[in-house]
Amino acid sequence: MHEVLPEGAVIRKLWIGETAKYREHVLRLDPESRRNRFGGAVSDDFICRYVDLSTSLDAVVHGFFIDSEMRGAAELRPLGLRFPRQAEAAISVEKPWQSHGVGSALLRRTLLTARNRGFRLLHMACLADNRRMQQLARKFDAELSFDFGSVVGEVESSRPTPLSLMREMLTDSHGFATAMLDLQSRMLRA
Ligand SMILES: CC(C)(COP(=O)(O)OP(=O)(O)OC[C@H]1O[C@@H](n2cnc3c(N)ncnc32)[C@H](O)[C@@H]1OP(=O)(O)O)[C@@H](O)C(=O)NCCC(=O)NCCS
Repeated sequence: MHEVLPEGAVIRKLWIGETAKYREHVLRLDPESRRNRFGGAVSDDFICRYVDLSTSLDAVVHGFFIDSEMRGAAELRPLGLRFPRQAEAAISVEKPWQSHGVGSALLRRTLLTARNRGFRLLHMACLADNRRMQQLARKFDAELSFDFGSVVGEVESSRPTPLSLMREMLTDSHGFATAMLDLQSRMLRA
């Protein structure tokens, strides 16, 4: 899987203990991106509670990191036992990093993760005037059929394959190695 990301950037799953990085990223979103992300204006306090809840649930969060700072996120959250094969996905990228392919890379990772966990339906809340998100979803129409009226995306493949599991494992190990190198160089600098 070849991704063209800005130099020095990495996309990896968030670790336990990195909730603060996620919270800071969401709080930094400009008002329009914040509105698009949450489907309306929300307060800082709402965001703090939202992030705490997300990370305490069974969510998988991928982060886009540059210079150790989290500048983008994709969250995949199962809808629970009553809807066993359904999950909710949401993406956010801070303004200076938008339109650089980051949202596409984050959605690609999220779709792979959803597939490997056997999710059939992905819900994505998207405001009707959010053209960029709609364009982004259209790029993945082979994997995701999107109905902007009902705001439900369908992950078409029902089962993970050895290859899809391997792809997730490989990207995870690359993300882990990069994070370790980053930690090491920060410790050396300190
Ligand atoms: C929607 C969002 C996640 C997209 O992320 P991104 O990093 O900007 O997306 P990409 O750079 O990968 O671009 C994806 C597609 O959007 C379209 N696009 C990019 N810039 C655009 C712009 N300025 N205007 C309209 N469409 C645009 C293109 O079709 C692009 O694909 P291409 O570059 O292959 O042609 C990001 O803009 C964002 O965080 N917005 C605020 C929060 C939000 O709306 N979240 C979605 C609700 S869950």
